[in-house]
Amino acid sequence: MSSILVINGPNLNLLGSREPGVYGTTTLEDIERLCAETAGRCGLQVACFQSNHEGAIIDAIHDARDRHRAIVINPGAYTHTSVAIRDAIAGVGLPAIEVHLSNIHARERFRHHSHIAPVAVGQITGLGPKGYVLAIEALADIINKGG
Ligand code: DQA
Repeated sequence: MSSILVINGPNLNLLGSREPGVYGTTTLEDIERLCAETAGRCGLQVACFQSNHEGAIIDAIHDARDRHRAIVINPGAYTHTSVAIRDAIAGVGLPAIEVHLSNIHARERFRHHSHIAPVAVGQITGLGPKGYVLAIEALADIINKGG
C-alpha cells in the first residue's frame, strides 16, 4: 500500500496551547489522527513526524525517498528561512504539498514569502486542520494517477 509522510516543523508540537487565537485549539495529536483517518479513507498509509530541528526534518525528507510516495509538510517558521528544506524536497523528487494552519499571506510581511512553495505541488494556507485533509486527498489523486 502506498504511504505518505506528514511532516510538522518547529513549535507545532505546542499546538492546542500555542497562540490559540492564531492556530486554534486542535492539538498535533488531533491533526495526526485526522491525517491517519484521511489516509485510510484514501487507501493510503501515513507516517507522521514532528521536529523542531532543521537537520532532522531534512533527514526525514531524505529517508522518505525509499519509504513514501508523497509528502505533506508544514515547515512552520522554516517556511520563510530554509533553503536547505527546499533543496531537500527538490532533491528527493517526491510530490509535496505545503500546509499552513493560518493564512500566512494575511499575517506579518516576513511570513508572506515561502522558500518551499516553488518546489511544492501546491500550498494550502489558512484552512486550519482541514488543510492536511485536503493535501492528503490531493496527493492520493496524484499517486493514483501516477500508477
Ligand atoms: C505556520 C505559519 C508559520 O509562519 C509559523 O511560523 C508557524 C506555523 C502555520 O501553520 O500557520 O509556525 O506554518
